[in-house]
Amino acid sequence: MRLLILGGSWFVGSALIAAAADAGHELTVFNRGRSVDTYPTGVEHFRGDWESEADVFHLASLGPWDAVIDVAGVIPSLVKRCARALAPVADRYVFMSTISAYRDWPYKAVDESSPLWEADPDYDPGTRSWDPDAYGPLKVGCELAVAREFGADRALVLRPHVVLGPREYVGRLPWWLARVERGGRVIVPAPDRSIQPVDVRDLAAFALDRAEARDVGVYNVAAPPGRDIFSGLLDACREVTGGDVESVWVEEQWLIDQGVTQWTELPLWRALPTAWSMATNRAESSRVSMPTAPRDCGGYVGVVAGWRPRSEP
Ligand SMILES: NC(=O)c1ccc[n+]([C@@H]2O[C@H](COP(=O)([O-])OP(=O)(O)OC[C@H]3O[C@@H](n4cnc5c(N)ncnc54)[C@H](OP(=O)(O)O)[C@@H]3O)[C@@H](O)[C@H]2O)c1
Repeated sequence: MRLLILGGSWFVGSALIAAAADAGHELTVFNRGRSVDTYPTGVEHFRGDWESEADVFHLASLGPWDAVIDVAGVIPSLVKRCARALAPVADRYVFMSTISAYRDWPYKAVDESSPLWEADPDYDPGTRSWDPDAYGPLKVGCELAVAREFGADRALVLRPHVVLGPREYVGRLPWWLARVERGGRVIVPAPDRSIQPVDVRDLAAFALDRAEARDVGVYNVAAPPGRDIFSGLLDACREVTGGDVESVWVEEQWLIDQGVTQWTELPLWRALPTAWSMATNRAESSRVSMPTAPRDCGGYVGVVAGWRPRSEP
């Protein structure tokens, strides 16, 4: 495929570029070049800002593409600008959305037809600072902008649950890896709680597979509910870091009573079981051919060594 990747240099985008380059796709990458400036051989890097109409028009002149993969769009009016400029030169638009698009998450189980936040495809909040409450509605606005400019028959939306893996910058897996590596007594909640993180490399492979299949519509992307559990994550951290830890399992209510902040203070901990009840049947039934090569766990350890927190995009 001839692919255009919008974003691409922080986390999900890096995995996507690596996978797409490996698969022999022809790539153009569009970002400001602030974070990474070197890409695999053959990748065309167009340096520009999607806040600039001129840059987006210039970008469109480099087409055509089989698909645009918009990894990082979060402002509806800017996604609309890109989608409008690219609709004549790209066959379809793949938009990386999020589980936060669902209005009732984490309070109810969600599938692809669950209610979304009300949103406006023309909206610009006027600020670029990270606001966790605005995030879901903004991403829904972006989804609507893509559907409006490309049409439902040329738009694919992926809604991942929490994404983990090399270059993760929010600090979820790095926090647990660093803690386990340090050793000693580790306080951990809900050992049997199902968790549904998706490995960034699986998310990248899935996005490419669906783009290649010219698929449209919406996919939740997560580990199947009930397959992985919290204690399994801890075992894996121990295996990878060699940390000598004693797990101290505690009642969730006790943690809540101590005022421990869910999701951030103990990353990936959420006392509501519905937080990990994202239906994944549609993705599972798509028969994607995922890579089967063993994973280089060193990638995770490298994350800890070089990890610096950064606010979510
Ligand atoms: N992390 C999770 O657990 C999770 C869960 C669900 C969904 N998601 C979604 O997954 C995506 C992950 O994002 P990511 O940060 O990993 O994506 P990324 O594509 O790897 O990185 C963000 C890119 O955007 C570029 N960029 C930022 N502002 C720009 C601008 N004004 N003009 C041009 N380029 C710009 C950055 O490069 P420069 O700075 O060099 O311009 C960088 O290349 C997000 O859409 C998020 O909503 C994440």
